[in-house]
Amino acid sequence: MKQQLEQIKTAALEAIEAAQNSADCENIRVKYLGKKGELTAILKMMGGLSPEERPIMGQLVNTAKAEVDAALGAKVNEMNAKATELKLQQETIDITMPAKVSKTGKLHPLNTVLGDMIDIFQSMGFDVVDGPEVETDHYNFECLNVPQDHPARDMQDTFYLAENILLRTQTSAAQIRTMETRKPPIRVICPGRVFRADEVDATHSPVFHQIEGLVVDKGITMCDLKGVLEQFAHEIYGPDTKVKFRPSFFPFTEPSVEVDVSCSECGGKGCRVCKGAGWIEILGAGMVHPNVLRSCGIDPEEYSGFAFGIGLDRLTTTRYKISDIRLLFENDKRFLDQF
Ligand code: DAH
Repeated sequence: MKQQLEQIKTAALEAIEAAQNSADCENIRVKYLGKKGELTAILKMMGGLSPEERPIMGQLVNTAKAEVDAALGAKVNEMNAKATELKLQQETIDITMPAKVSKTGKLHPLNTVLGDMIDIFQSMGFDVVDGPEVETDHYNFECLNVPQDHPARDMQDTFYLAENILLRTQTSAAQIRTMETRKPPIRVICPGRVFRADEVDATHSPVFHQIEGLVVDKGITMCDLKGVLEQFAHEIYGPDTKVKFRPSFFPFTEPSVEVDVSCSECGGKGCRVCKGAGWIEILGAGMVHPNVLRSCGIDPEEYSGFAFGIGLDRLTTTRYKISDIRLLFENDKRFLDQF
């Protein structure tokens, strides 16, 4: 019996040694220490022993049970400790790991240039105003000294939505709206989209952008216009930029000019950006026509003003050497990611 006990104990300890997981341990506990377990069974067999042998054997069995129980407990503890350690290892946070950089949006090049322009004009005391893209003939043409049948209407191919309702062909419409609602002194710019039924090519798009400027006050002269535009050109293109006024015609200004700046790429020698001219035309301007002031209830004998309309798309394509204006409107991510 003693020998049998010894064999059972050895088998139990070996099984404990070999156990892989807590389920194994539980099976071992049931097999050896459970109610119907092998060590428990031995105790029950002791009825056949003599009264002298019984306590000795009982003690041996209890010692063996305690030994197996202790070994099992130690094994379970060891397994738990290992599991905890593994879990901790897996949950480790490496705080030295570089953070994932999340991709944020960025400004479209047109908006970058527009933002710069707004900064420049605001620093000169201009307010930014807004105007509707769907306009009436009244604001887009009539009040700007372009009556029905005026040949100047042919200068701009207009998208009509209904009779007398159109997509504005120029931000100049905002001049009228401003003069109707504000009293001089007036100093505003109005950036926005304009629309013309032009054939699409590398330099023409049916949608493009202008920034209208308007100044009305007592004693405003063409010198003021020149000063403001020169200041603007120097800030946008650099202090060495030259500005050239060429006589031109717009129905809403008299006299009218077109304004060129010396090419910032070649300094005026002629290059790909300025197409060999050395100059880049960036805007139309002039002294507000007395008829326009009058149509807004401003007395041209008392007040005078100047206005200008800058082409934002032109400014943007020359600044970034973009060869085709269509790229600004296609929203191709590969193109936009370059800015
Ligand atoms: N509206 C003109 C155009 O689209 C540009 C322009 C010229 C605006 C002279 C003005 C101006 O305000 O005074 O071609």
